[in-house]
Amino acid sequence: MLRQPILAVTALLTSVSALPLSATAAEVNIYTTREPGLIQPLLDSFTKSTGITVNTVFLKDGLAERVASEGESSPADVLMAVDAGNLVDLVDKGVTQPIQSEVLNAAVPAQLRDADGNWFALSSRARVLYTAKDVELASFNYEDLADPKWKGKVCIRSGQHPYNTALFADHIAYYGAEETEKWLAGVKDNLARKAGGGDRDGAKDILGGICDIAIGNSYYVGLMRSGKGGEDQVKWGEAINVVLPTFKNGGTQVNISGAAVAKNAKNKEQAVQLLEYLVSDEAQKIYAEANYEYPVKAGVAADPIIASLGELTIDKTPLSDVVSHRKQASELVDKVGFDN
Ligand SMILES: [Fe+2]
Repeated sequence: MLRQPILAVTALLTSVSALPLSATAAEVNIYTTREPGLIQPLLDSFTKSTGITVNTVFLKDGLAERVASEGESSPADVLMAVDAGNLVDLVDKGVTQPIQSEVLNAAVPAQLRDADGNWFALSSRARVLYTAKDVELASFNYEDLADPKWKGKVCIRSGQHPYNTALFADHIAYYGAEETEKWLAGVKDNLARKAGGGDRDGAKDILGGICDIAIGNSYYVGLMRSGKGGEDQVKWGEAINVVLPTFKNGGTQVNISGAAVAKNAKNKEQAVQLLEYLVSDEAQKIYAEANYEYPVKAGVAADPIIASLGELTIDKTPLSDVVSHRKQASELVDKVGFDN
């Protein structure tokens, strides 16, 4: 009969000793699916400049599900993810709250944040064109991927990969599903090989003479050319020229990494402070250097390798619109047998 109260006291002591030493020490809890190596320097820098401790939970996936299942007792204050679709998913699952911040609204282009303030882009990457050196293109429209002049010359990863469904969804936003189906069938007809592999395989296959043009993300150019991916990749990176394509009536399609304040954040003030810090010049510079991403804030320089690709004009379609067409894009990929 005596054991139970003793156990309860022990449990209480254990949980008390797990709390920060000073009850007033400011902290913020972040759940992120970004790689620790990319995000830790930013969080360290935040702590250094504000004195606020950051406790981080790194997740491979299932961020929305985890926070939803934790409910009101969730310790998460900030939710960080890659891909606009994953940020919209957080809103759909009801685990975010809208933030009104002049700092965030001023730093993040309108099409790269939620209209209601539920999420904000922190960095971006562009879906660009890699070309063989002898293909001299000053500019390129995504629409032209279906031009028969490229028959047998186009390399691209699986049409179902989120990088591609986002691009195809943007096409739907401009032209509707019917036109996009025709366009996708045209792109499929132009493929040099079965859609597949990764983006870097596009550069590798250009070097191998398999294709003349390929679609890939901008940061892979930095990863390849810098040597961070090893010697072979330097050769792939140097075998290509890069063009920033645009839609005929728009700009270059980008995707983002971004963050939201959790609905049940206990440290909301610090959470907003962290988000605002992440769009500061100092933090945006770290983003640019860590993974060859584009800073979202105007006036912060990209890494020299990325800056050398040319001036980025971000497409005007709001990412929330792009995301709303992704399911349809995925269905069209199947319908035209893009990956077959
Ligand atoms: Fe990637």
